[in-house]
Amino acid sequence: PTRRKLVVANWKMNMNVASATSFVERLSITGDTSGKVVICPPFPLIYPLRAMLPDSSISIGAQNVHWEDSGAFTGQVSANLLKELDCKYVLIGHSEVREAGETDGMVNQKVKQSVATGIDPIICVGETHKQREQGKTNEMVKGQILKALSKVDDISNVIIAYVPIWAIGTGLSAEPEQAQVVHHVIRETLHHSFGEIAEQVPILYGGSVNQKNAHSLSEMKDIDGALVGGASLDAENFSTIVHAFE
Ligand code: G3H
Repeated sequence: PTRRKLVVANWKMNMNVASATSFVERLSITGDTSGKVVICPPFPLIYPLRAMLPDSSISIGAQNVHWEDSGAFTGQVSANLLKELDCKYVLIGHSEVREAGETDGMVNQKVKQSVATGIDPIICVGETHKQREQGKTNEMVKGQILKALSKVDDISNVIIAYVPIWAIGTGLSAEPEQAQVVHHVIRETLHHSFGEIAEQVPILYGGSVNQKNAHSLSEMKDIDGALVGGASLDAENFSTIVHAFE
């Protein structure tokens, strides 16, 4: 299938103007990677980062979004503003946001708002260590996907990221085959509800992806890219990971 590949940097609550500037200077991405690389900085860095990447094939994403158009929502950011600042993507449902109180219902509203605004949602799903031990991984991930996509008619611009919570920032990445099993479950789930379009949906893996394990992950049939946290803070490491998914 001709699925697009994506390598996404999630800077989380890291970086500043100076370090973002030197990151951009040190980034060494060659060849045809157009539309394949996304950087999700903290909100205040979206605008300066865009300016540092003129005419660049690198896209900008946000780390979160609110589901309402505008109004009295202190501390929140609207999809329309993100769109105006040229954000092409937004992370939704990351476990670090879910842990802070985001529900499946909120994830669903954010997904609908993003799709309606023309920003591609990167929907994050994944199980805890305990859920995996209890054999609940597939059920958990399936449930999160179906709730996130409830009443979404068109998933042609949706991206899924499988991010097992036990693999985040632990240095303990899922084994490629272990991740592939879940990616396959995700694709089947999408297929069952949405039909053939499921073949076009990029499914990214996230969780301790680094310059060493990226290549073997990229060889799995249903792993179409990566959502990179820690290793995305270093321009050299991140460039290596991008090239692993060529
Ligand atoms: O969004 C990224 C995931 O939380 C993975 O983070 O690469 O630091 O493990 P990590």
